[in-house]
Amino acid sequence: MRKLLIVAVALLAVGCPPPSETTSGASGGNEILVGEYGSLTGPEATFGQSTHNGIMMAMDEVNAAGGVKGRKIKVLTEDDQSKAEEAANTVSKLISQNNVVALLGEVASSNSLAAAPIAQSNKVPMISPSSTNPAVTEKGEYIFRMCFIDSYQGASMADYISKQLKMNRAAILVDVKSDYSTGLAQFFESAFVANGGRIVAKQSYAKGDNDFRSQLTAIRSANPQVIFIPGYYNDIGQIAIQARDLGITQPLAGGDGWESPKLVEIGGKAMEGSFYSNHYFAGDPDPRVRQFVEMYRERFGQTPDSLAALGYDAAKVLVNAMSKAAQLDGPSIRDQIAATKGFPGVTGVITLGPDRNPIGKKLAILEVRNGDVVLKDTFEPAGSSAAAAAATTAPTTAPTATTAPAKSGT
Ligand code: PHE
Repeated sequence: MRKLLIVAVALLAVGCPPPSETTSGASGGNEILVGEYGSLTGPEATFGQSTHNGIMMAMDEVNAAGGVKGRKIKVLTEDDQSKAEEAANTVSKLISQNNVVALLGEVASSNSLAAAPIAQSNKVPMISPSSTNPAVTEKGEYIFRMCFIDSYQGASMADYISKQLKMNRAAILVDVKSDYSTGLAQFFESAFVANGGRIVAKQSYAKGDNDFRSQLTAIRSANPQVIFIPGYYNDIGQIAIQARDLGITQPLAGGDGWESPKLVEIGGKAMEGSFYSNHYFAGDPDPRVRQFVEMYRERFGQTPDSLAALGYDAAKVLVNAMSKAAQLDGPSIRDQIAATKGFPGVTGVITLGPDRNPIGKKLAILEVRNGDVVLKDTFEPAGSSAAAAAATTAPTTAPTATTAPAKSGT
């Protein structure tokens, strides 16, 4: 009981409803039930909270405009406490007890990987807004995502470090308990080595650790120019503090898992000069991003991170598919999600390929500077229209980078 109360208070504090509560303004018994599962509490809590905010914003817009096929959407939200076993449990419950027609979640790849087989075997379509491990959508034809995958993310970071920063000695610190971390570390390493770089030290930790000093000491003695740490924000903040305490001055680099309003809050000054790849940049002048950021700030009082943007896009893509589906059953909705083409999302135009991953999504490299997160660079996959246009004048190698520094937030 005490634990439940704490959860409720924590959720109230960030403006989220308690799990399983309707927040989309729907009432009566005629709603379309959509399940959401995510890390509303636990070490990755901001992932679930931001995603939830994005989903609610999208669904409230849809309901205010009349819903889908004349029916309102009701989102049933379950907290998996940042645990893979709970992700599987909550998805089983949403399917068997609540009969949801579709699922939105998860963020962390290990959690999506645990839940996806259940969605797949029940023929309930699932859209992960932000899980980047390639294996997630390989779980079956009912599993989709809204984000780029880690082969592209790892190669983009390797290219940025070797080609833009001209560094050829990197260390890697990986979370062995995370499918995301181990996968991204491998993709980074192979691309970095292919670029002529060398991995001078490789160390590991496990989710839940809070002393990283022995690994960092080993890395320090290998004298890398950069340390690649594909982890989640709560660990990164602590790792950065301990690295600086040990006299390590080199920049830390990472992937989208760093994205959280808590990153700089936890890591403070220790984060200065470090950088990571992300799905979107809140300071993007694109009118669709500007409108989203403004509406989100008005409602939640904070700048939306990429999880909020991807959650919003996932919900809108699902609604688009449901409105086109002949019937609101799993197979019909699945077919329409699979047919998503040119959908104008906040994180880019979304077209799903035959592997159920979006095609041609851009990647932003963000850096912590003066306690703020600023844009360093953007990458586009080869074969996207902009890359193709560039290639007509000069041959380019994938991914393509364009330097465009700008300030975040305001
Ligand atoms: N891509 C991460 C994973 O697969 C999750 C994540 C996405 C975290 C975007 C932060 C921002 O585990």
